[in-house]
Amino acid sequence: MTDLSQLEAGLTAQIAAAADVATLEAMRVGALGKSGSISELLKTLGAMSPDARRERGPLINGLRDRVAAAIAIRKTDLEAAELDARLAAQRVDLSLPSPPERRGRVHPTMQVLDEMIAIFAEMGFGLAEGPDIEDDFHNFTALNFPPKHPAREMHDTFWLPEDERGERKLLRTHTSPVQVRLMRGLNEKLPSWVANGQEPPIRVIVPGRTYRSDSDATHTPMFHQMEGLVIDRAIHMGHLKWTLETFIARYFETPVVETRFRPHHFPFTEPSAEMDVRCERSGAEVKIGQGDDWMEIVGCGMVHPNVLTNCGLDPDVWQGFAFGFGIDRLATLKYGMPDLRDMFASDVRWLDHYGFSAFAQPNPATGLS
Ligand code: PHE
Repeated sequence: MTDLSQLEAGLTAQIAAAADVATLEAMRVGALGKSGSISELLKTLGAMSPDARRERGPLINGLRDRVAAAIAIRKTDLEAAELDARLAAQRVDLSLPSPPERRGRVHPTMQVLDEMIAIFAEMGFGLAEGPDIEDDFHNFTALNFPPKHPAREMHDTFWLPEDERGERKLLRTHTSPVQVRLMRGLNEKLPSWVANGQEPPIRVIVPGRTYRSDSDATHTPMFHQMEGLVIDRAIHMGHLKWTLETFIARYFETPVVETRFRPHHFPFTEPSAEMDVRCERSGAEVKIGQGDDWMEIVGCGMVHPNVLTNCGLDPDVWQGFAFGFGIDRLATLKYGMPDLRDMFASDVRWLDHYGFSAFAQPNPATGLS
């Protein structure tokens, strides 16, 4: 056997024996790399006599080409085998149970807010918002709270420290200051994110956070209210009663609810009332629309002429009504939460229990999800 055929036999055996791509590559470098066995042979051609080169040249080049081709074929085979092995090892077992998936829940306050907005939207109400940090004028004075009147204390206000102009801002104690912002409308410079003022007629609801220094089973320092305001010509209490009764029946998903208007006092409405609904209480549970009990649901009244005047509207031309719901309280009544404070304790177990799926199907009765 010549030296070349011996070398070729050795390399061919190595190629066949290489069990993986890495071994094959090492072998290729050993033969065809810069100082590989075949490369070294090719280098000897330069020093040969022309006759010798004519004879050896084709032999060495032929050897190089056959070895390179054999390596390439073996490499393709090895790569295919490695891929097959990986696919077999990494096969997905579709029969395995999927890992548990944590899903967020919609907070009951936000769920109820959506329900309320949907119902009022169908009655033609628009939506407005105002700032959480208010001034005395919007929260009290324009709403006809007399200066130094105990009614101001009745709200247990959170006051902010005095600013450089000596003014003390406050966390709004109710959403009623947005009534003022809406009615003063174009007379008032509003930050662009606040409800754009509009001239009457006005028919809006105003949801938002409100704050009072108060904490027990039915009060939290921060809570949510939904204000309602309707201003037009010839608006009377009948409109107020129909609006609230229609809303309550739809919200509690009962065909009729019996209501009762009890005289009350708010500085910004005259007459003022609290609306009660007929209900049945058994323990913590309350059933709306049946039974011998009454439960206070909402404060309301006809917008006080002083408020209209303070907002630049002529009370002889414009009348209106307003109401203020506690959104969280409506949630506890509909969905049976015993303690209002739990709503804002950020306990995920509570939210898992009382929260709503973000992907709920709409209720076929109400069209609400
Ligand atoms: N702002 C009142 C409150 O916080 C509720 C209310 C709103 C009453 C509008 C009458 C009219 O209790």
